[in-house]
Amino acid sequence: MNRKEPSWLKNAVFYQIYPQSFCDSNGDGIGDIQGIISKLDYIKDTGFNAIWLNPIYESPFKDAGYDVSDYYKVAPRYGTNEDLRQLFAEAKKRGIRVILDIVAGHTSTEHEWFKASCKAEKNKYSNYYIWNEDWLDDSDGLNMINGYAERNGNFAINFFSTQPALNYGFADPDPRKKWQLPTDHPDVQAVGEELRKLMEFWLQQGCDGFRVDLAPSLIKKDKGRKAVIQFWQKFRKIFDEKYPEAALIAEWSYAPQALKAGFHIDFMIFCGTSAYTSLFRNEPERDMFQYIPKKVFYEIDGYDYELKNQNSFFDRGGHGDINQFMTTYLRHYQETKENGYIAMVSSNHDMPRINDNRNALDLELIFAFIMTMPGTPFIYYGDEIGMRNIKGLVSVEGGYTRTQARTPMQWDTTANAGFSTAPASKLYLPIDPDEARPNVQSMLADDNSLLNRFKNILKIRKAHESLQADGDFEFIPVTNAANVLAFIRKSANEKLLMLFAPGADGGEFSFKLDTAQTPTAIRAVNMELSCRDGIATCKTSNSGYGIFKI
Ligand code: NOJ
Repeated sequence: MNRKEPSWLKNAVFYQIYPQSFCDSNGDGIGDIQGIISKLDYIKDTGFNAIWLNPIYESPFKDAGYDVSDYYKVAPRYGTNEDLRQLFAEAKKRGIRVILDIVAGHTSTEHEWFKASCKAEKNKYSNYYIWNEDWLDDSDGLNMINGYAERNGNFAINFFSTQPALNYGFADPDPRKKWQLPTDHPDVQAVGEELRKLMEFWLQQGCDGFRVDLAPSLIKKDKGRKAVIQFWQKFRKIFDEKYPEAALIAEWSYAPQALKAGFHIDFMIFCGTSAYTSLFRNEPERDMFQYIPKKVFYEIDGYDYELKNQNSFFDRGGHGDINQFMTTYLRHYQETKENGYIAMVSSNHDMPRINDNRNALDLELIFAFIMTMPGTPFIYYGDEIGMRNIKGLVSVEGGYTRTQARTPMQWDTTANAGFSTAPASKLYLPIDPDEARPNVQSMLADDNSLLNRFKNILKIRKAHESLQADGDFEFIPVTNAANVLAFIRKSANEKLLMLFAPGADGGEFSFKLDTAQTPTAIRAVNMELSCRDGIATCKTSNSGYGIFKI
């Protein structure tokens, strides 16, 4: 390993908390920081040692807090800065790291910088955002809003119309368009300084790093993302020198670039439908891209909108094809393994939950996969108990189709599933109306529940050096069976074999395995393995998986 990194990342297992929906301590119907603090023991006991918190800053919440109006202040509905410091401290006591979400690319239209920038009179903030010079100018390919301000011009946005893009400059400004400032322009550098300042502010308050929203979007007209890579490399230098234990996690969705830019981790999510999506969601009705505007920020290698096989690998039908994922994954893994980690997520606040018509066994296989792959696992709150997508909800806070995956956490069988004491009509979003909805309390009491199975898988991960983020990974191609997955994880002192055969019908498959005796099962579900003359044969019934010691 030739990288420097925060020492805790090697063993980190993240829990993602969407604060609105996690736990409401004051009965106003919206989750808050004291609510999160009250659940830290649950988080620790489940086996997580890190938290990613979606944005908690002051905001008009047109995009669930990804539209910040004050980066230095916790939104009053979640509590105070003091509450957040208390969360950092309480988490630390339990060995849990807390990562904040930094919305680096844009603010809310309600931010004071933007309000000043809208003014006709030139001021310090005029160039903090991207404005063209005249309201009749063309936009040069950017998404622009016109008719908003007294200022004679239109402003660029990154996502919704309420999210004006901060001005980090243009890598290749058009000399005829004076409003396209180069990246070394002092006004643009000042925006970078603001970002550095606010990140340092939160590190000094006790947070352990950041997930950076839309990290590659900052610099415009940046072919190959070269300029934005350099931009982030500077941040990494500051982090390495001043905050060596702070983690930088990108929402870049293209690890080869993100890790080169200096991020320690990048999510493997929107890397083309043939990669991550093909694992769990490769079906037309599970189109995770449906919320993304046609104009996507990432014009990079890896995008492939063509569905080659419409069955996802982990579907019970067993008709998926692991090569759809592996082809991209192996390329990214080989290219990045010396520089950082690829994060494997169960779901997140932008995509449908993993439990879309799945049973506990289906989900167990998925969790075992996520927890035995290299890199860093991220579990979205509620996935560990199998919370469902609640279809057909009216959009809240700019969620649109994403709203289905943002409903309140289900803690117990009391009113509002223990999420809040507010009247049901006041809740941020309704609770899953299914009376048989899963909840933490009942699941903890049942040894065979999904939650307890999840905890056991996590215990296995923790107990094995080779399963940590940087344990070696070797994919074993299984000839003539694209619907099974075999791989090895290896560290200095151990070698584990992982087998996954999703498919209600079960079956038999063989592959080459260089071992004198049949590996011993650490955990095998609906699976039997035998080895002879360098060939391993695996029999499965009703979807199986196994973790074996070679
Ligand atoms: C990605 C975030 O995950 C998403 O929720 C948000 O809407 C966009 N970035 C815009 O900030």
